[in-house]
Amino acid sequence: MEKIIINGGKPLHGEIEISGAKNAALAIIPAAILSQDVCVIENLPVSISDVSYMMKILKHIGAKVKLLSKNSIEIDSRHVDSYIISNDMTKHLRASYYFIGALLGRYGRAKVAMPGGCYLGTRPIDQHIKGFELLGATVSVEDNAIVDARADELIGSPVYLDVVSVGATVNILLAAVKARGLTVIENAAKEPHIVDLANFLNSMGADVRGAGTDVIKVRGVEHLHGCTYSIIPDQIEAGTYMVAAAATQGDVLIKNVIPKHLESISTKLIECGANVEEFDDAVRVSLSGRPGKCNIKTMPHPGFPTDMQPQMAVLLALADGTSIISESIWTNRFRYTEQLNRMGANIKADGQLAVVQGVEQLKGAPVRADDLRAGAAMLIAGLAAKGTTEIEDILHIDRGYEDVVQKLRGAGADIKRVFCPDANTLTSAG
Ligand code: EPU
Repeated sequence: MEKIIINGGKPLHGEIEISGAKNAALAIIPAAILSQDVCVIENLPVSISDVSYMMKILKHIGAKVKLLSKNSIEIDSRHVDSYIISNDMTKHLRASYYFIGALLGRYGRAKVAMPGGCYLGTRPIDQHIKGFELLGATVSVEDNAIVDARADELIGSPVYLDVVSVGATVNILLAAVKARGLTVIENAAKEPHIVDLANFLNSMGADVRGAGTDVIKVRGVEHLHGCTYSIIPDQIEAGTYMVAAAATQGDVLIKNVIPKHLESISTKLIECGANVEEFDDAVRVSLSGRPGKCNIKTMPHPGFPTDMQPQMAVLLALADGTSIISESIWTNRFRYTEQLNRMGANIKADGQLAVVQGVEQLKGAPVRADDLRAGAAMLIAGLAAKGTTEIEDILHIDRGYEDVVQKLRGAGADIKRVFCPDANTLTSAG
């Protein structure tokens, strides 16, 4: 078992470099098998565990994966020879279900166990299945555990999504790129990682237009070829460090970002009194004095991202005044508030609303990372709090934050990772 220990209360200063986007990577990795060729993926956050699990699945179905450098891999999918992926492969992460769309697109057949991932409330996949069926696939879910999808031929079709879903948009895109004719996804998700996936598919020879708007048109092509592609910077990792800079009343230059992707986050930070300076591929965030309050409502892109909601709650927990957070994507994304309240925050969550009464100071405490972004919130709280915070269950943080301890240390944080053979003996793990 490993923990992260933070001696907090020190403003972050300096520079932090952002890695490639996790949620783009998780869509692009399975998409590579559609090419039946060799793809090189650059700016990939190779060391986060979600990416490692996706690479394991690739190898499991017969692809060859070669590490070219710290952040680039080569995927040779010429010898993929299986469409079956079992639960021990899929249970670690949500995005494992992108192999359904990718294998359907490649073989017309996919038998993939239901995905795992963060518990954020119910996570149905009805829109994915509806999309596959509209493209001509027959889909059954065996024992509520294995999705079995098959199609003699996939044929382009209009698909209207009843809810704006990132996952369904990705999966339908993957199935549609080699289908015969035109697929039109309406009410599609517009997140930056959808655009990145579409750009990757087009680099392989696909014909995808309109990504980034709510109508995506895919004209099926017979053949895709290999390519070299560099993944966009991670919007949520950048946002997390932006909030950390403000919550510690620090001053940090966050490099390798696309400032346009950060606008909803920058706007809220400015509303709380932070300075946000934009450069071509960097943002500088600073705050002196106590943050001000603000209200937040999470929305699909370009609204305020739900994946930044727990982190922002830490800043609001320290604000002068009372803020309201309204979570409109997930039904159960306030579990972390219990942990923050152990650190002296005053947050009352009820259903999809939380009332955050700002306090002057948080104090270090033993806390748990309930899920990935909850873990990010614990990191920020620990950095801002007086005293020592010990974060348990950090495997959730490792799913999405590359080199997090090193990056924060580089900005002056007193943070370390420790290996705990048992709860009473703490040994340094670097
Ligand atoms: N939904 C349905 N039916 C479906 C699919 C989704 O009702 O078939 C609902 C969901 O229950 C939810 C809403 O639609 O209420 C949006 O879900 P979406 O499908 O967009 O979420 P997702 O694809 O499962 C991705 C990210 C999440 C992020 C959400 C929302 C990946 C791998 N995951 O999840 O990221 O919270 O979009 O932006 O891209 C994270 O990175 O920490 C994370 C949880």
